[in-house]
Amino acid sequence: MTTLVTGGAGYIGAHVVRLLQQRGEDVVVVDDLSTGDASRIGGATLVELDLAACDAVDALTGVMTKHGVDAVVHFAARKQVGESVARPAWYYQQNVGGMANLLTAMENAGVDRLVFSSSAATYGQPDVELVDEKMAGHAINPYGETKVVGEWLGRAAGVAWGLRFVALRYFNVAGAGWPELGDPAVLNLVPMVLDRLERGERPKIFGDDYPTPDGTCIRDYIHVLDLAKAHLAALDYLDHDERHHDAFNVGTGTGSSVREVIDEIGRASGIDTTPDIEPRRPGDPALLVGSPVLIERTLGWKAEAGLPEIISSAWEAWQAGPRRIDD
Ligand code: UFG
Repeated sequence: MTTLVTGGAGYIGAHVVRLLQQRGEDVVVVDDLSTGDASRIGGATLVELDLAACDAVDALTGVMTKHGVDAVVHFAARKQVGESVARPAWYYQQNVGGMANLLTAMENAGVDRLVFSSSAATYGQPDVELVDEKMAGHAINPYGETKVVGEWLGRAAGVAWGLRFVALRYFNVAGAGWPELGDPAVLNLVPMVLDRLERGERPKIFGDDYPTPDGTCIRDYIHVLDLAKAHLAALDYLDHDERHHDAFNVGTGTGSSVREVIDEIGRASGIDTTPDIEPRRPGDPALLVGSPVLIERTLGWKAEAGLPEIISSAWEAWQAGPRRIDD
């Protein structure tokens, strides 16, 4: 079995690469190394390639044929909401263009199994306690829109030429399965808090006047190793003849507030994490927690780690460094 992992040198991709290797599979990583790091992929074959480039289809088709690729896990994409608002055409070109190139190459090479990195950003700002899979399609920024369109493209390829397709909609990913595979970017709550603590500054809370029990936003934090395991479960699901669903939340069903996350970082690090309260950040929903019922029932996958394990692994990885890739 040979699996191609696009974006396999990135934070989540590298965890999936390692798990695939541990179960004895051959792995080919396609990554442009714009944010990824080649040292993260162990013994996998690395092909340095920008999926969204005009000549990517031929190159990708060649890679799949040469290595006898059976299935693809597609991570390679841009993922910053704010940047997508500033540069929408570039986000569509990168994320939708990259997906279109990938699907064309898969059809050319006769590779018919794909697990796609989708996002809770496909839900926008749902006004519910627990989001279920049927509520998608309401993205509120270009990043989320590219994920909605990516799912459409995957489905359309299923109809057109029999692609076997699963989209995994990630909630808030944090932690590290191995200290050297920690999140190298300082773009989300946990690394942003750790970064400020390292500089001797106080963490920031963007708004404490939301309609939640402690006034701060609630999210569904998922350990990156649990998330990586969901990809292997999805690959196995694509082997089944009977497949009734093509999009799954990868969440825990339990929310944690910004304040709870910051307190947990204080416990794990032993550092005083008294925060500064800042104004609300535009576009933040008060509550976004995913129902894990469908993925548990269908793929037999369930998150194992809770917030303490997520944060202690993030802290351990942060101390191991290297870090701070800001784009
Ligand atoms: N936050 C702070 N202080 C910080 C950093 C973040 O209070 O220093 C707050 C944010 O305002 C938000 C919460 O922490 O309320 C989580 O913020 P993140 O930026 O870590 O994550 P988001 O929920 O905003 O975004 C995540 C993914 C996106 C995805 C989005 C939609 O990072 O890629 O979920 O589901 F689009």
